[in-house]
Amino acid sequence: MKSNKKYLQYTWFVTIMVFLVILAGGVVRMTQSGMGCPDWPTCFGRWIPPTSADQLPPDFEKYLKTQDIDHTFNVYHTWIEYINRLLGALLGVFIFILFIWSFRKFRKTNKQIVWLSFFLLIAIGFQGWLGKKVVDHNLAVVKVTIHMLVALLIAAVPLIIIYKLQAERKIEAKFLKYLSYSLIVILLIQIILGTQVREQIDEISKSLKYQQRELWIDRLDGMFIIHRSFSWLVAMGGIALWFKARTFKSLQLNVIFILVGVLATIIAGLVMAFYNIPAIAQPLHLLLASILVVSVFSCSLRLK
Ligand code: HEM
Repeated sequence: MKSNKKYLQYTWFVTIMVFLVILAGGVVRMTQSGMGCPDWPTCFGRWIPPTSADQLPPDFEKYLKTQDIDHTFNVYHTWIEYINRLLGALLGVFIFILFIWSFRKFRKTNKQIVWLSFFLLIAIGFQGWLGKKVVDHNLAVVKVTIHMLVALLIAAVPLIIIYKLQAERKIEAKFLKYLSYSLIVILLIQIILGTQVREQIDEISKSLKYQQRELWIDRLDGMFIIHRSFSWLVAMGGIALWFKARTFKSLQLNVIFILVGVLATIIAGLVMAFYNIPAIAQPLHLLLASILVVSVFSCSLRLK
């Protein structure tokens, strides 16, 4: 186990990086910077984007025309989107290193780890390609949703690697395992419902030119009521998991974290509903929901 210590620490680092990239994606959306770089992988045809309008290429109008939010150059939007891309690319490099490391370390002893890290590499490649498609299709909402679900998958794989290497620490509790599986399914349904609400918010906010936030919630349809009400099921699942796991010492921290995560995600949702969707609550709600589902997943990996 000791010889795996550095490898395990690095795999945790990759997991945290995934959440950082998810947060960066949320900030891009919060600031409406998604089309800040209208082309991909370059930004206004350059590898380092312009910092002022006079640095724009002569044919800059061709790029701005593809934006449907506004057709002006906004240096903040451009650089927020560019930093988001840089973080994504950096994550790609870190995952590549993880693959090479896994290959060298485990190719003879644990092929599963090598395959998992290879899968991670493919998933991050797919995510980059999807990122391009999102830009090509002017942030087509369905593609943004798939982008998010793949991000969750990318966060889950390093955890599988970690727990595969710590298999001897598994706790025998079948009922808890099924309970955690059920909560994952409930959460995934809730997340898909949430992305539907998000898609509607995207359309509503765009039609109002990102103004009049007080009208956004009122214009949502029944999907929002379903999403909101479904939180009861999430809360009950979280409480049940905590209640059944509270006697297992090594799980206590994990289930309390999950319970706090459920509460925090719901509070962020309520803040959006009652305070006209403050911009900051949007990436926060997304980040909390992502951490929550991945924590429940990590809890399930510790059970057998
Ligand atoms: C644990 C329960 C919950 C989970 C796991 C959850 C998850 C999510 C997710 C993943 C999204 C999509 C975010 C994105 O793609 O950017 C979302 C959107 C949303 N959720 Fe929730 N949610 C929960 C509870 C609630 C509650 C209780 C409310 C309100 C009463 C709420 C209100 C919203 C709203 C307004 C959006 C659209 C946000 C936006 O435009 O950025 N959610 N939710």
